[in-house]
Amino acid sequence: MNTFIGQDLDRAAQFLKEGSLVAIPTETVYGLAANAFNVEAVAKIFEAKNRPSFDPLIVHTHSIEEVAKFTSHLPEKALKLAEKFWPGSLTILLPKNQLIPDLVTSGLNTVAVRVPNHPLTLELLKNLDFPLAAPSANPFGYISPTTALHVEAQLEGKVSYIIDGGYCRVGIESTIVEVNDDKTTIYRLGGISVETIKAEIGEIEEIRHSSSNPKASGMLKSHYAPTKPFILGDITTLVENHDIQKTGILAFQNQQENIPKEHQVILSESGDFAEAAQHLFAGMRYLDSLDVEVILTELLPEEGLGRAINDRLRRAAATKM
Ligand code: TXA
Ligand code: MG
Repeated sequence: MNTFIGQDLDRAAQFLKEGSLVAIPTETVYGLAANAFNVEAVAKIFEAKNRPSFDPLIVHTHSIEEVAKFTSHLPEKALKLAEKFWPGSLTILLPKNQLIPDLVTSGLNTVAVRVPNHPLTLELLKNLDFPLAAPSANPFGYISPTTALHVEAQLEGKVSYIIDGGYCRVGIESTIVEVNDDKTTIYRLGGISVETIKAEIGEIEEIRHSSSNPKASGMLKSHYAPTKPFILGDITTLVENHDIQKTGILAFQNQQENIPKEHQVILSESGDFAEAAQHLFAGMRYLDSLDVEVILTELLPEEGLGRAINDRLRRAAATKM
């Protein structure tokens, strides 16, 4: 299959109507999209990503009004969150109706829904009469793509069209939340912080950081992972035990003196979490591409987006199962 890259939304729409795959830019990461109502098209996503079928997909649409077409109920608190954060980096779990194939939700009766905040993808969605199921556009378990070239490098030949929407402003995946009348659960930390959600709807009863039950794939222990060993700890101490010419560094704010500058990625010199998130996955990818044997990294403060970034770092560092 040929893979085309560009900004031709009519062409992208045509591929989607035919049941083919199109990579879409969002403000979080790029998605690998198919018609969410077409089970054969959705099956192609699992195949292209090598994704296990027990890992459900997020359905993307362009407005709150559209959501009612494929869900059966919108709890009051969910509506409040949607009105506040859409378009944006929040995914809400809602009871699905029969238009959503079981493959999309891996047999669950809830569907994950989000209105992404990217002008090209919003325009595309408005021109389609179906929503788009789309996981991140990377092979399962590997680093999520934040540019069109990242998608091409990993999925060329497996996707018909890649819409080039530039780099992703947020840089980490959406926060996944379920809100019932009595309980709010966060399934994945992401682009909108827990503090920000709390400020909107009050208490959050449960955060399912990590679990062996992969209700959210970001919950699998090893995920977002580079191919090189990725070691988490105090960088200055770790550096002492490694060959400085063969070591990559992914640090929050500070350079290491003895390590070649081109082997170091600083996420945000000024200590800004949003900037750090934006640079995270591209930084991991860059270091993975170097002639180094190991990548050393450190945690950020456990607050705001720092928590979501740390979640990615811990999973990337976890030994593969
Ligand atoms: O920012 C994002 O969310 C990006 C962009 C493309 O929208 N998408 C993304 O998709 O990160 P993906 O497939 O890599 O992660 C979606 C997560 C998975 O971990 C999946 O398990 C979870 O959403 N999920 C989907 N439906 C679910 C459901 N009904 N219940 C619980 N978790 C669900
Ligand atoms: Mg993913």
